Amino acid sequence: MAEKREHWGSRLGFIIAAAGSAVGLGNIWKFPYITGENGGGLFVLIYLVCIAIVGIPIMMAEIVIGRSAQKSPVGAFTTLAGESSNWKVVGWMGVFVGFIILSYYSVVAGWALNYTFMSLTNFFAGKTPEEIGAVFGLLYSSSGMNVFWHGIFMAITVGVVIGGVKGGIEKWNKILMPALILIFILLAIGSIFLGGWKDAVNFVFYPHLDKLKASGVLEALGHAFFTLSLGMGAMLTYGSYLEKNTDIPKASIIISVLDTFVALLACMVMFPIIFTYGFSPQAGPGLAFKTLPIIFGKIGAAGMLLSFIFFLLLVFAALSSAVSLLEVVTSYFIDEKQWTRHKATLITGGIIFLFGIPSALSGSGALFPQWETMYGKNFFDTFDYLASNWMLPLGGMFISLFVGWKMDPNLRRSEYMSGTSWTAEWLYRLWVVFLRYVAPIAVFIVILQRVGLIDIDRIVEILF
Ligand code: TRP
Repeated sequence: MAEKREHWGSRLGFIIAAAGSAVGLGNIWKFPYITGENGGGLFVLIYLVCIAIVGIPIMMAEIVIGRSAQKSPVGAFTTLAGESSNWKVVGWMGVFVGFIILSYYSVVAGWALNYTFMSLTNFFAGKTPEEIGAVFGLLYSSSGMNVFWHGIFMAITVGVVIGGVKGGIEKWNKILMPALILIFILLAIGSIFLGGWKDAVNFVFYPHLDKLKASGVLEALGHAFFTLSLGMGAMLTYGSYLEKNTDIPKASIIISVLDTFVALLACMVMFPIIFTYGFSPQAGPGLAFKTLPIIFGKIGAAGMLLSFIFFLLLVFAALSSAVSLLEVVTSYFIDEKQWTRHKATLITGGIIFLFGIPSALSGSGALFPQWETMYGKNFFDTFDYLASNWMLPLGGMFISLFVGWKMDPNLRRSEYMSGTSWTAEWLYRLWVVFLRYVAPIAVFIVILQRVGLIDIDRIVEILF
């Protein structure tokens, strides 16, 4: 017989850990640069709509499945849909996607670790923007550095997950999350005093109608999944450690609002710098690594401290997200194969480390140098593309279809109602309608566009 299932120490502990999973590289590293690439305000607005009408309902669905079954994804679908049902494939897919995402996520987190330590040497002092950009290039193309930092980051992640749900994940998140939000607020306040602040506010919050292509809408939806940790059972797994007294709708809204808040804060830290120093908002994935050190270099000794704090926070944010990815993989072996937590964490963490090595070597071309020529993207980008553009939206669609159409309606209702003060019938019904129609149709349209069966930009052109 397996050990008794662990639970969170408190309701707040769950919310903090789930918010820790959601808030990560997606918010601080990715969101500002895709906002820049997609022209700002209107993209942000559409992203907010996606969070509200697709993200929040699916987050509730994942937590409902997890808490109801008290199992991680594979076991949960088996419990709720029956042993012989194919729904457990959605669970397997989740474990597999967790594997893939963590393997390259850890490489980016490794860059942040490297920048944290480099900050201590004041590496940006007296350098031109080009030279600072070159530092990133140097790191990116170094095999040894990438594998080394990727390994260190995976080891830390394993260390947290081995501690278990309450003593590891919850304890660490309770320290890291508030620290992160506090220091980000301070940085954002500092940015108010920069000359480019007004331009930044205008760029991020004013919907310039001419700047967005319809395909940007699809990117906004895909990012909504990634940033809220949806579509592969991470929220489902965290939900499985819940007791019945948690208010699922309210918790989902709090988590999503916090996540969005940090993403917008990150924009309000970075864009004022970008506009003050006349950089292009379209700097791409290097945005955080290449541009922020420029300003750190301009403010003397304080710059060293700020740089250290900033990159350390980036590491923290990445860590609390990585922990949730590893937990999905680990809990599969704990729940389904009756491994001990120790064994499951060490083995899966080790394999993910090995799995990440090709991604870590993508910049140097030391492994699979022909990959990019053959597939158009390097190994790292291929993994990211497959996971976030295909597997998460597909997983999210199946999860919403499952709870909307397949799950026993009585169980679904009682699981939603248990612990919530939002018992109004219309609210519950609205949620189900979103799961049955709105979310799956939105994802389906994204997939049609990606496969090339429809071209939304053309349709918009023809219609208007
Ligand atoms: N949400 C995290 C971020 O924004 C990444 C992440 C953690 C994730 N767990 C996940 C993404 C599960 C998809 C699925 O950086």
